[in-house]
Amino acid sequence: MKIMLINGPNLNLLGVREPGVYGTETLNTVIEKCQALCEELGAELVGVQSNSEGEIIDAIHGAMGVCDGIVINPGAYTHYSYAIRDAVAAVKLPCVETHLSNIHNREEFRHTSVIAPVCVGQICGFGGDSYLLAIRALADVINRK
Ligand code: DQA
Repeated sequence: MKIMLINGPNLNLLGVREPGVYGTETLNTVIEKCQALCEELGAELVGVQSNSEGEIIDAIHGAMGVCDGIVINPGAYTHYSYAIRDAVAAVKLPCVETHLSNIHNREEFRHTSVIAPVCVGQICGFGGDSYLLAIRALADVINRK
């Protein structure tokens, strides 16, 4: 099983960026924990981080025929990128949206995800553990296929 983990804009600054909201763990630490979990599950993890919408879309396209599913934290693109939503819908791979923070108890503009409707589900609000929960959920979906 191969899982692509996509992190969108500003997530490269995890650890220094608004630690009161996103915690003090760096993206590298989060990815290392994801990698350890994937090993436990017998899965391979392909990590991508980009601050640009086009690169994220290219990564999603690149998962086609290569990966069995995608975990994505689209960052602020969550709330308005119809292009990323269309890419997820186009590749027909199971996708789990994840967020460190609970986007539903924050500013109103964060309450909407235009991407979640084309995902199998959304996990948010558990800090770095959101990613681990998302990987477990995605692995279950892939195994049930
Ligand atoms: C985020 C939530 C988004 O609203 C925000 O723009 C981010 C991070 C999260 O992981 O909590 O960049 O995706």
